[in-house]
Amino acid sequence: MDEKTDQLEAIAQKIGIGAIKRHVFLCVGPKCCSNEVGEKSWELLKQKIKDAGLSSGDNVCQRSRAGCLRICCHGPTMVVYPEGTWYHDMTPDKIERFVQEHLIEGKPIEEWIFARNPLPGRS
Ligand code: FES
Repeated sequence: MDEKTDQLEAIAQKIGIGAIKRHVFLCVGPKCCSNEVGEKSWELLKQKIKDAGLSSGDNVCQRSRAGCLRICCHGPTMVVYPEGTWYHDMTPDKIERFVQEHLIEGKPIEEWIFARNPLPGRS
């Protein structure tokens, strides 16, 4: 293998690719929320996922900071795959409960969800 492949494989292993069970995308604004609120939610999301032990192991939750998820109101907007669960108003005060109930217990928080689009399964 060449150096580029080695580097990419090392990074993939470091962030748990191969063991990812969920991927959370969080928009940090600026249209659906202020950047200040979006960044606070993002920092808290990263920390709570790490604290919950979901950054490594057999049940990795990948997280990505998004610039826009095309909703652009009532944010911070969040979507969780593979369930395709779309959340509105994911302000910092909601992040801890989200991580506990959705990511750890596997129970999406119905009152914060405004849309659903599970991805089709692979054959
Ligand atoms: S700016 Fe957040 S969804 Fe568009």
